Amino acid sequence: MEFITLRNGVRMPILGYGVYQIPQDICERCVLDALQVGYRSLDTAQSYFNEEQVGSAIEKSGIPREEIFLTTKVWIEHYGYEQAKASVLESMEKLRTDYLDLVLLHQPFADYYGSYRALEDLYEAGKLRSIGISNFYPDRMVDIASLARIRPLVNQIEVHPLHQQAEAKQWLDKYGIQMEAWAPFGEGRGGLFTNPALTQIGAKYGKTAAQVMLRWHIQRGIAVIPKSTHIERMRENLEVFDFALTREDMAAVAALDQRQIAFFSHQDPAMVEWFVKMVEERKKQHDCAKEQKSW
Ligand SMILES: NC(=O)c1ccc[n+]([C@@H]2O[C@H](COP(=O)([O-])OP(=O)(O)OC[C@H]3O[C@@H](n4cnc5c(N)ncnc54)[C@H](OP(=O)(O)O)[C@@H]3O)[C@@H](O)[C@H]2O)c1
Repeated sequence: MEFITLRNGVRMPILGYGVYQIPQDICERCVLDALQVGYRSLDTAQSYFNEEQVGSAIEKSGIPREEIFLTTKVWIEHYGYEQAKASVLESMEKLRTDYLDLVLLHQPFADYYGSYRALEDLYEAGKLRSIGISNFYPDRMVDIASLARIRPLVNQIEVHPLHQQAEAKQWLDKYGIQMEAWAPFGEGRGGLFTNPALTQIGAKYGKTAAQVMLRWHIQRGIAVIPKSTHIERMRENLEVFDFALTREDMAAVAALDQRQIAFFSHQDPAMVEWFVKMVEERKKQHDCAKEQKSW
């Protein structure tokens, strides 16, 4: 495993395991498999509703807590100083830990300054080893990086061969903020797992298109957190440290850039409207479920 040293000296594995969209009933098994094949960095979030399963897998694995780099993210419903602080403490309880290696603000909407201040205070209190942001595009990133008391250490954003984020990377490098790629395979959209350029490069090294994508990110200095529910793919995705892409290979992958998001544009007002509605709907459902529970 290779490590990245964040601006505050904390070492973070460059490759970790993401658990977005892993249902609760299989999440513990998946995380146990991931730990067993060698992952030592896990990426979850309050909004994935699987922190408890991640926590129980860590406990069951018997791996010392300090050997695992554990990340979670504060969801927008918990934004605001007091709520964000309480939500991080609740995440820690679910994850069965008394500290976290990295906590990110999940989205650049609503009261992210108040929420970030909660992260700063928890960081200074020694509860969080590092803090950062997610989905903050250069405009929002420069804003918080310039005005917050503690500059974020990591920004986790959508990055894959079809959306390479070269400009965002330059801005992050300028501020010393580590780029972390979510959906490092673009979830396979646009046929990335069978892309001819990627498979041809892989064939030279006996590697798959997936492995070429991860290697390409790593050689750009970007942290990756691929998700798979299959143990053989978990292994495949870890086996990317025994080969290197040439300058020509890197250029061939760079040529795939479509400079277009494959998922959700945080800068498109219509998408932001959709997002706000989705959050309101989720909150209603959540409140309703809570009410039913208390009957
Ligand atoms: N901060 C954010 O807003 C945000 C947003 C999205 C994601 N994330 C984080 O980033 C992590 C990764 O992103 P993601 O899960 O959206 O997408 P991804 O890692 O790009 O792709 C996951 C998909 O690829 C498949 N896959 C994995 N390895 C493969 C392989 N070697 N060959 C073929 N198919 C393979 C998986 O299928 P199987 O599972 O069936 O193997 C799954 O369908 C998430 O789990 C989460 O932790 C963060």
